[in-house]
This record gives sequence, structure tokens and C-alpha cells, in this order.
Amino acid sequence: MTDKPSRRPAAAHSRLDALHLAPDSLAFALDCAAHAVGAVRAGSALPAALQTVIASAKQPTARGAVQDIASRAMRRLALADALLHKLVKKAPPPHVANVLVCAFTLLTDDEAHAAYAPFTVVDQAVSAIAARREFAFAKGLVNAVLRNFLRERDTLVGEARNDPVARWNYPRWWIDAVKRGQPDAWERVLEAGNAQGPLTLRVNARHATVDEYLARLAEAHIEAEAAGLHAVRLKTPMPVDRIPGFDEGVVSVQDAGAQLAVQLLDVKDGMRVLDACAAPGGKTGHILELANVDLIALESDAERSGLIGQNLRRLKLDAQIKVGDAGDPAQWFDGTSFDRILADVPCSASGIVRRHPDIRWLRRASDIEALVAEQRRIASALWPLVAKGGELLYVTCSIFPEEGEEQARWFGTAHEDAVRLDAPGQLLPTAARANAGAAQDSPDGTNLASPHRDAETFADHDGFFYARFQKR
Ligand SMILES: C[S@@+](CC[C@H](N)C(=O)[O-])C[C@H]1O[C@@H](n2cnc3c(N)ncnc32)[C@H](O)[C@@H]1O
Repeated sequence: MTDKPSRRPAAAHSRLDALHLAPDSLAFALDCAAHAVGAVRAGSALPAALQTVIASAKQPTARGAVQDIASRAMRRLALADALLHKLVKKAPPPHVANVLVCAFTLLTDDEAHAAYAPFTVVDQAVSAIAARREFAFAKGLVNAVLRNFLRERDTLVGEARNDPVARWNYPRWWIDAVKRGQPDAWERVLEAGNAQGPLTLRVNARHATVDEYLARLAEAHIEAEAAGLHAVRLKTPMPVDRIPGFDEGVVSVQDAGAQLAVQLLDVKDGMRVLDACAAPGGKTGHILELANVDLIALESDAERSGLIGQNLRRLKLDAQIKVGDAGDPAQWFDGTSFDRILADVPCSASGIVRRHPDIRWLRRASDIEALVAEQRRIASALWPLVAKGGELLYVTCSIFPEEGEEQARWFGTAHEDAVRLDAPGQLLPTAARANAGAAQDSPDGTNLASPHRDAETFADHDGFFYARFQKR
């Protein structure tokens, strides 16, 4: 199980390359994004859906626009579906519906307005439909629906948002779970998940301090700010190949909340360390940047384990990479215990939904129970491998207490020789927009959503759960 669910492969789009639309047109991007939305509805993860759509369209330069529209659509899917339901009496064919959904997405998103003028969106949605002979009959419908929508936009959106699913753009079970788990912060948490995450970098401590790297960015006229002990947040995201020092391993892309893991692991030179669920190796690299340790990076997915090696090669660091099940040490354990174990277990990924906006539509409420069982199986199997006085850090990128605090309590009860040490527990996601509200609540302007003072310096981060256990 990985944290990026994909129930079925993305559908093939055999005729995408035969479309008579300019590849740099909005119509082309809307058509491709609509196919990607259709694939997610059928159970594919968005990255896989986008890859299939772009490959079959044979227009790699369209990727940016298609990805932007499809990702926005994931964050507004329920609102767009509600508008569709309201404005179209008889359900149109799925592709036509998905083009309309993508258009609604752009027409209801104030941020998107700057890039896509409303009447251009209408015109291009009509062109996208007209370009496909099998759907050309629907171009009048698309034109009428979108123009009607623009005439009454605010009223229609206001009415649709009376339904919480359309208001928050999450499945109902997800909204209920967040309300239950975070009764005082649920609105802020849901809102944070609908924001776009910033581009945060981890500065390799072997190469530079945060201040030194900020100076390097300033020389390159790139605006950025410190976001944690090793974290720097860029004001404007950019492709990694334009980030100074990325290719040489001076920095890596990693959310500020995720960077807390290795700080909590507190690794020292000479330790023997297990990174038990390691791919793609973000935390593996961080461990090796901070100490000279004997590190095993374990991953059950052979294909994903290749990503660990790729990451370490760029950082010019080294670990023993093993493919195996963390829940079955007999497959890979050599008998020498570990001073530190990082158990970054598979989870719902509900804390990183702003970076993977499709996850909410792919997960099912029933997945949580299976994940909880898997997390217990892995953590229990790893505990006997911790040396006396050594520590296990349990990590999830989830905001659901079943995968977090409830697991930590269960672990403490189930393992008499486990002492729970200080750690943030549930680190709720905060976004720039959500922070503005949080700061008003707080006398010192810090982020109240984070229950741990050290974590408060990490404003604008994803959601994680951290629990540390030491062996008596
Ligand atoms: C949350 S991700 C880890 C992220 C990683 N620690 C990082 O910082 O880049 C969880 C990983 O655990 C792997 N995994 C799932 N079940 C596992 C198991 N039983 N044993 C080992 N790895 C497993 C998944 O394939 C996935 O790559």
C-alpha cells in the first residue's frame, strides 16, 4: 500500500492526438483535463491519469495547463458537480459533463480568473466540445449552460454551497471524520487542504545553513524566507531545474512539516538507523545530511525503492537500500538492533491533500480500518528491533486520530517497555490563507493549530502525526 491510491489504471484516450485544436489553446487543455477528471472518477490517481492523457495527446508542452486545470478541478469537484446538476436537466455524456466541470472550476475560482477570462473559458469550452465529432451535438448546450451560469454566478454558487459537500469539496464521510477528529479546527483544516501548497525546500546541512542558502537565492533574485531549522519557502514555485543548487544536492523539495521527522529522530554519528517505509527517500536523505550513520532504507515496493537510490545519488549520500516488508523482519533483518527506527507508515495521506487534491475522491471511509491494522502490524513488528534505550518514531501524513493519537495510545498500552517521549502529536495542516485566520486567534500571532511550540515555527505546512517511543 502506498500513500497515493490508485484503484484502476487511467483509461486510454486513443483519439486525443487526432484533435484539431492548437496544443497551446485553452480548449485543448480543457479537453485533456476533462479526460483526466474522468479517469479519477473511474478510480485512477491524478498523476497517473495526467501521464496517460499527456502521453496519448503527444503534446508534452500542454502538461502545465492541463495539470493546473485538473488539479483545480479536484479542489472544486463537488461544487462543479452541484452546479452541473442544477443547470443541466438531463445528464450529458460523461466527457461533456467533465468539460463543463473543468469550465465551472475556472469560472468559480477567483485565483484562476486572472489567468482565464470568463468569456474565453466559455468560448474555449465550446471549441473543445465542437472539436470532437461524437460530442459536437452538445456545443449549443455547453454554450448555453456556461452563459446562464455567468449571468447568475454568485446566486448559483451561493445556493450550491448550502450543501456542505459542495461548500468544502470533500466527500461527506471525510468532512464528518475531520469534524469528529478536530472539533475546534475542522473548518481551518478543510480549508487548508483546498489551498495550494508552497514550494518548500530542505537545505542540506552538509552544504549550507538556511541563512547561507537564502543569501544564494537573493543573489539569484529569488524571493524566499526561512520556514524551519533547515527549511526555506520560495515565494513563487518554480521548476526544480531552475532552483540554485538543486542538481548538486544543496537542496531538496520537502514540506516543512515533513522535515520535523528527522529532527525528532535525533540521529547522531555512529548510530544504526532503520528507515522502515522509505520511498521515495525524502527522509532518508535528511537523516544522512544530519549525521554519519549506518542506515538501512527499507521499502516494500521494488519500483518505488528505485526512487530512494535516485534521491541519494543526487545528494551524493549512501544507504543500504533493501526491498522487503517492514511487518515481516524475517525477510530482511540481520539480527543487529537499531538505535533509531523511523516508521513512516502507509496511511490515508489526509494531511497532504493540498498537494494531492485527488486523494479525497479516491479514498473510501472503509480504507481507514485496513490502514489502521496495517500500521499496527508494521509498528509491532519493528519494535523488537529497537535496541534498549533506542527510539522508534511513528509518523503518518494523516489528520485522522484513528491513524494518529489512537494508534500511539494503543502502541503504549500494547508494549510495556515503551516510554512515550515528547513529540508534537497531531500537527494540523496550515495554509497561508488559513494562517491569516489562525493569527487573529492568537495573542502572539503564532499558529494555534499546532499543539507543539517547536512546530509553530513551521507555519504553512502539511498535516502529520508524530509519536516517539523509547525502549526501557
Ligand atoms: C508515507 S510513504 C514514505 C515516505 C518516505 N518516508 C519519505 O519521506 O520520502 C510510505 C511508504 O511505505 C511503503 N510501504 C507500504 N507498506 C510497507 C511495508 N509493509 N513495508 C515497507 N514499506 C512499505 C510505501 O510503498 C511507501 O513508499
